[in-house]
This record gives sequence, structure tokens and C-alpha cells, in this order.
Amino acid sequence: MKNKVTKIGVLSSGGDSPGMNAAIRAVVRTALYNGIEVCAIMKGYTGMVEDDIVPMDSRSVANIIQRGGTILKTSRCLEFFEPEGRKKAYENLKKHGINGLVIIGGDGSFRGAQIFSNEYDIPCIGLPGTIDKDIAGTDFTIGFDTAVNTAVEAIDKIRDTAEAHDRLFIIEVMGRDAGYIALHSGISTGAENILIPERKTVIEDIITQLAEKERRQKLVNIIVVAEGDEFGGAEEVAKVVRERLPLMEIRVCILGHIQRGGSPSCMDRVLASRMGYHAVECLVEGRHNVFVGIVNNKMNYTPLNEAVKKKQRISDEWMKIVKILAS
Ligand code: F6P
Repeated sequence: MKNKVTKIGVLSSGGDSPGMNAAIRAVVRTALYNGIEVCAIMKGYTGMVEDDIVPMDSRSVANIIQRGGTILKTSRCLEFFEPEGRKKAYENLKKHGINGLVIIGGDGSFRGAQIFSNEYDIPCIGLPGTIDKDIAGTDFTIGFDTAVNTAVEAIDKIRDTAEAHDRLFIIEVMGRDAGYIALHSGISTGAENILIPERKTVIEDIITQLAEKERRQKLVNIIVVAEGDEFGGAEEVAKVVRERLPLMEIRVCILGHIQRGGSPSCMDRVLASRMGYHAVECLVEGRHNVFVGIVNNKMNYTPLNEAVKKKQRISDEWMKIVKILAS
């Protein structure tokens, strides 16, 4: 028989993403509804290790659903990945009487939760909070929709200038290991090429396509590059294109951290609210050490031990769509 969870700690970890606050709000209010106390663990796993843990009530999460970032702050805590750090964290949780955890973050944060839950008797529930959407076991992650819409808005604006000056724009979006932001923002802005880490970039093919377009007097082109593309990002691509097609007017634009901030979209707020609610339900029902995802609009629970092994895949059909629509 699993012990009843009476007091939970909630934390956000890794890169912030829009909608994390909506998830925190949902966790706090659902826990209180179930008669469970809640504590904020500040700055991700750092707060666990350094005992930066404070009680929360319903008012602590008032007026935050519309705010980007995370009121709990976040960090990437290396100490937690050492046994000593996790021992300190456990002792601090015990001291506060915390017997359940909700961790909002990406794959690195889930890895921390997986190791911790295998070592100690405190159940952990993960909520996928990352703009990258690179976690297998969920169709969407909290923050992806907002981030990709920020990128789309920016690329649409850049296209106006590309059109006015007959230029090629090479636009770099975020995604260290994952091409989802590039893929979605590129398709929805009609990009001619989309370069992502999941596919090999054959620069010769891109040069050939651009040369053919130049010949046809198609001078407005948008290439969207994920920062983690193996060819090396937008500047690298631009360097080669400039050398090979010297008559083409080229500009590079790196969108950077504007993609991480801002008020979450309706979709991210709803997603975060549903996931936050279900995270607490998992703790109440004894469904421990899983992360809450959404698949075909239904909640999906993946054991943390499995979650850390799988990567989200991009099917070839996506790449076919990109190619056909950009011709
Ligand atoms: O994981 C989210 C993400 O925004 C990646 O897309 C990006 O590579 C990374 O975080 C940037 O991290 P930092 O803000 O620490 O530079």
C-alpha cells in the first residue's frame, strides 16, 4: 500500500517556458482542493539542495496564469546530479514533511526526477515544460505553442522585408537537439527550406535549389534553421551560400530568447491547467513516478524510467510536405 501524499513540493527546472505559471497554479489549487499542503521549491533542484522551500496558498498563485517565465524561478542544477546533492535534497524534503513532488521541465529535469525517484521514497510526477517539444509520450509540451507562434509572428514580419528588397533571409530558431520549432514555424510561414538536427543537411542541394530560383528570378526566399542543425546554424549556412551565390542578397536573423518569453497562448494555458490538475490526481491515486503527457487530446502517463530513454521522432512525411509545398 502506497503512503498517502499529504504535502507536495512543486518546482520548475531547466529552461523556462510560457505556461509554466499556469501549470504551477493548477498544481497548487488542485492540491489544496484535495486537502494536500503545497510548498514552492525555488530555482529548480537548487532549492531542494539548498533548502529554499516556502509554503504556498491559493493566493500565492493569483494573477499568474497570463504571465510568462516562472514565479518559482528555474535553474540547471549540476549538484543534484551527484549522489551527495540528492541526499541533501532528500533530507531537506523530509525536514519539511514533503512526501510528493511535481517537477515541471524538460528531458534533463525528468532525468533528475527519474534518478531521485529510484533512490528515494518520494513519488515524483513530471510535467513537460519546454518550448522544444522534444519529449516522447506527449503530442505537446507546455510552452511550445507560444514559442512557435512568437517565431511565426517574427518570420512573417521578416518576409515583408525579404519581399521589399528581394532578399534571402536565413532565420535561426531555437532547438538545440530538436527541430520542432523550425518545422512548425517554417511550414506555417511558407519557408523554402527547413534545416533540423533530425535530418542531414545537404548544403549542395540547397545551393542548387537557390541557384535554380535565382535563374527563375524568384529572389525572395526564407530558410528556417534550427540552432542545433548539424551544419552549424544560420551564420554557417549564410557563409556557404554567400560564397557560392555572390549575387544573392542575404541577411541572417537569429530569433533567440524572444521565443522563450511572453504571455502564454490559450492553448498553452489550457494544456498547463489540465496537466497540472492531472499531476496532483496522479499523486492522489497512487500513480507514481510518471510524467503527464497528452496524446490525441487524452492524458497519457509515461513512467519516468521509460521517458528518459525515448526521443520524439519526426516522420518522413513531414519532410515531404515541406518539400512539396515550397516548390
Ligand atoms: O530547451 C529550451 C532551450 O530554449 C533550447 O531550445 C535552447 O537551445 C536552450 O534552451 C537555450 O538555453 P539557455 O537559455 O540556457 O541558453
